[in-house]
Amino acid sequence: MQSRMHPKYYLSQDIFDREQVKIFRKVWLFAGLASLLPENNSFITRKIAGIPVVIQNFKGEIKAFENVCLHRSAPLQQGFYGRRALVCPYHAWSYDATGMVKSIPDCDTIYRFSNEEKQSLKLREFALKQLGSLLFINLSSEPMPFEEQFNPGFVALMKNAANAFDTEVMVTTWHGKFNWKLVYENLRDFNHVKFLHAKSLAAVADFPFHAANQVDLALTPLSDTSVAGLRKAMRPFSFGGPEGEVDPIRHVPWLDMVERWGTQDAYFNWLAYPNLHIACGNGGYSFTIEHHIPVAPDRTDIEIYFVTAKKKKPYAASSQVLLSNLHYSKKILDEDIGMLEQIQSVLHDDAPIPNQGAYESTNRQIERWYTTLMEIEHEI
Ligand code: FES
Ligand SMILES: [Fe+2]
Repeated sequence: MQSRMHPKYYLSQDIFDREQVKIFRKVWLFAGLASLLPENNSFITRKIAGIPVVIQNFKGEIKAFENVCLHRSAPLQQGFYGRRALVCPYHAWSYDATGMVKSIPDCDTIYRFSNEEKQSLKLREFALKQLGSLLFINLSSEPMPFEEQFNPGFVALMKNAANAFDTEVMVTTWHGKFNWKLVYENLRDFNHVKFLHAKSLAAVADFPFHAANQVDLALTPLSDTSVAGLRKAMRPFSFGGPEGEVDPIRHVPWLDMVERWGTQDAYFNWLAYPNLHIACGNGGYSFTIEHHIPVAPDRTDIEIYFVTAKKKKPYAASSQVLLSNLHYSKKILDEDIGMLEQIQSVLHDDAPIPNQGAYESTNRQIERWYTTLMEIEHEI
């Protein structure tokens, strides 16, 4: 038995700020769904790692910029999503697809910027990667290659599933009173399902005990703490595929209205560290996409998107299907959220340190990496 995470990692503002800089502003993060950006000038806005971001469709090309006007810092786009040219609502500076200032009304008469000054006005652009309709962003000025963070096999499978998502989306945000790390720890812990979700999820799905692997690895200090070593160590944190067995899928009429993804009657999970979880509990007919957003040491927003597999053709009840998926997910998620809020509520600086068992080896590996990164001088 080996002790792990000190409670300070779930409580301290200083550590939260360090995480934002050392993890969230360095690694690839899920940022939203391209299906919310179907047309020229469709946009979504997000605050990611404290940075306001606008992701916008420019004649089919999707770009991500800091959502702050270069004149006097007004947000360029407002609202969760919308459709509008990239023009500041304050004094109408407009921007092109490269983030350059395109026009400034009355520039020569009242601002008197030289051409050189005008040409230097360019929004901060962020690297963007699209997998099917999943959008990932990297806030670093020198982003690590996407493939360095995620295994190619994992990326291919997730992309394959994401290509099957329908474009009709229902989205909601739940505000959790707990630290973001409790969420991923919970998601990488299949053992809680039969207890915490005894009457809900466990009644329809079974998560067989996986033999824990790499236990010893999780207990020894990281051997390579160079930037390259720390990046490489991240790859096993993200994985996905069929994880559980589900009861034979009960036939309901809407299943005939969509192109099922795959043929396996399984519970699928994809976990992309640090902030994305995709679940499909019915063998490829519908998906929930959870986006975890740390907002404070004891606050995490969970944005959840509900989609079915692609519709064969539009049908009248499709939004009802998404709504009933939402209600079902909420029931299970409330059980998780309730527990995580309880855990957070009893944490204090001198609380007992967790004692994890062999089955929790992935969480141990992440924690070994995380505590190393938090305590060393350099970043990744
Ligand atoms: S603040 Fe954007 S145009 Fe003035
Ligand atoms: Fe759960």
